[in-house]
Amino acid sequence: LRDQLLIVVANREPYIHRYVGDVVECIQPASGMASALDPMMLACGGTWVGHGSGDADRLTVDAHDRIRVPPDSPRYTLRRVWLSKEQEEGYYHGVANSGLWPLCHVAFTRPIFDSRHWQTYREVNELFADAVLQEAGDRPAFVFIQDYHFGLLPRILKRRNPELTVAQFWHIPWPNPETFRALPWKEELLDGLLGNDLLGFHLGYHCQNFLETVDRNLEARTDREQSEVVRGGHATRIRAFPISIDFERHSAAAAGPEVEREMARWRHRLKLDGKLLGLGIERIDYTKGIPERLRAIDHLLENHPEFRGRLVYAQCGVPSRGHIRAYQQLDDEIDDLVEGINWKWGNGSWRPICYEKRHSNPAEMTALHRLASFCVVSSLHDGMNLVAKEFVASRVDEDGVLVLSRFTGAARELTDALLINPFSVEELSGAMHEALTMPRDERGRRMRRMREVVAENNVYRWAGKIVSTLLRLDPDDVPPR
Ligand code: G6P
Repeated sequence: LRDQLLIVVANREPYIHRYVGDVVECIQPASGMASALDPMMLACGGTWVGHGSGDADRLTVDAHDRIRVPPDSPRYTLRRVWLSKEQEEGYYHGVANSGLWPLCHVAFTRPIFDSRHWQTYREVNELFADAVLQEAGDRPAFVFIQDYHFGLLPRILKRRNPELTVAQFWHIPWPNPETFRALPWKEELLDGLLGNDLLGFHLGYHCQNFLETVDRNLEARTDREQSEVVRGGHATRIRAFPISIDFERHSAAAAGPEVEREMARWRHRLKLDGKLLGLGIERIDYTKGIPERLRAIDHLLENHPEFRGRLVYAQCGVPSRGHIRAYQQLDDEIDDLVEGINWKWGNGSWRPICYEKRHSNPAEMTALHRLASFCVVSSLHDGMNLVAKEFVASRVDEDGVLVLSRFTGAARELTDALLINPFSVEELSGAMHEALTMPRDERGRRMRRMREVVAENNVYRWAGKIVSTLLRLDPDDVPPR
């Protein structure tokens, strides 16, 4: 692929321009997908085709809707695709996030399927195909598609230009066929995905689910031995590639002066002086188990009075998909829980929960990672979860405990975390207590081992594996089990 143009397609753009009052600022979104792909693009160059979602985005592009990013030291091109309100409603809020997101996460939120939304999803997949084909021109190109927003795009691209190399990574789980069969357009989606030359998931288990789903729903030949599907003479290889982060860059930033300054700011703001800090950082999303975690804090304070007045739990919640009812309900539920728990236990100047409901910048988040005695990731279901890996990369001091849900992809690699079932308040609260009382040498041992794992399996290795598998150059490439 050396001489090919690299085109990444992802709904979420890596740099968003928005107005704050009259000033235009550039932010990086809270998206595991975007934070994983950006370092690869910085290293390789190429073009990222994404939805122009910021209210000042149009102001910053050239006549071809392109902008070089990062704005401060440009390394690659961002091509923005504009969507109408109706398109955003049907494709993004509708099919992608009210349909496929709950369907694939099996998080007890009922998926909503509406055929008008599906029509828009098709339309937007075509729109992105237009942009990709324009960017590729007559050059040979490798198109690397991200996620569930583009289930139909691979087939459209291959139909319109069979010379393209097309791969896709599905950043969320793939459910079992019994769950998946609820999707009214399942054949069309599966056929769309089989336009890929290579289709990646985080885990072997998701690959098996995908193969079984194809088997039950489509006229295609699935080869379990080779983990491959052949349809209409074209083969799609199905492989597992657990995603990661840029460990070196993250660790270097964590040891840098900007993070040190932010740490001082947080100590003051959270009135930490000598108190212990628990931490959670994520988008406000019902898959993340935020209410479960707040109930666990309440349980901890109930059962371990010695932590009353001594523990501050900081929850950073980035507002997300607020247009969708299930997200609005969750937002209200979290507000009520925070209010109730602070009312119940707070006294004088101490409140157990500090809830920061806003977008935080990377240095602020890394500073919190560094200050925390423990970080909780209590997802009810998560493809990978990169917050867990970011916390580990931030701990240059080899301290801090990770409390991690067993139902994340990350739990397969970070076995030195305290692994919990987030549905059990007792277990979660017990793990927080264990984290708070764990001896320093054990914390160090566990953190060192987790740092080795993330340093070794970084995001460059992830991207390299995908490319070498595509070229059939990877000597270790074995079909997933
Ligand atoms: C998950 C998805 C990403 C998405 C991110 C944030 O990590 O896999 O594709 O970008 O959530 O969600 P949003 O809807 O804000 O892009």
